[in-house]
Amino acid sequence: MSGYRMMMLGPPGAGKGTQAKRLAQELEIPHVSTGDMLRDAKRRDTELGREAAEYMNAGKLVPDEVVIGIVAERLEQDDAAQGFILDGFPRTRPQAEALTDMGVELEAVINIEVSDEEVVRRLGGRLSCPECGAVYHKEANPPSQDDVCDKCGNRGLVTRDDDRPEAIKQRLASYHRQTAPLVEFYEQRGVLEAIAGEAGPDEVTQEILDRLAD
Ligand code: AP5
Repeated sequence: MSGYRMMMLGPPGAGKGTQAKRLAQELEIPHVSTGDMLRDAKRRDTELGREAAEYMNAGKLVPDEVVIGIVAERLEQDDAAQGFILDGFPRTRPQAEALTDMGVELEAVINIEVSDEEVVRRLGGRLSCPECGAVYHKEANPPSQDDVCDKCGNRGLVTRDDDRPEAIKQRLASYHRQTAPLVEFYEQRGVLEAIAGEAGPDEVTQEILDRLAD
């Protein structure tokens, strides 16, 4: 199973990043996360990072032209030639159209379905490693040692700036208004795979792999 051009769709906290990392490893294709790229720019305090931070911290989407530019640049890199997993892009209709204009036809769009209540529960308990981007949950998926990243050993797991209750509310509103319409967009193109996302992470991974193998 290689050569996939696929995308993870779903509300904030649906488990897109968790699943995309596992699939990228299993399918040996790069994980291209716009959220991770923007957070990296924020951390390095670049011009892009400073511009994006204002939108991200408020739970709003970064302007289309900014995100389209960074994705276009990323997909031109050699490691993306054999496929990739987009995570968090596209999330507006203009972004989806821009992807088509880049010559990218997605073969699978994995739509992870979870309720708004589950989103609030998951994001309210999420812990992230600022060094390597690994993601944990205080109850569902805690690190083996308190406050230490299992993946890179960094001490000091953090709550993301946009995982505050007001920002979560705004992100859910942005999702329903701007991103949910993409479900129909990709359904019409015959590439949408709806996945029940409230099961445990291992079951969700298996369900996605089974669908891709069909
Ligand atoms: P982004 O980083 O893409 O955030 P998001 O879409 O809101 O998604 P999250 O990263 O919050 O959640 P996720 O679905 O990856 O869930 P996770 O696996 O972490 O974007 C952040 C911001 O950047 C945006 O708000 C916007 O400002 C900007 N941005 C990014 N892309 C953009 C674009 N294209 N256009 C414009 N702006 C853009 O899991 C969540 C938690 O649940 C974790 O604690 C995890 O351990 C736990 N969990 C995961 N799966 C399960 C499970 N099955 N059962 C129980 N717990 C689980």
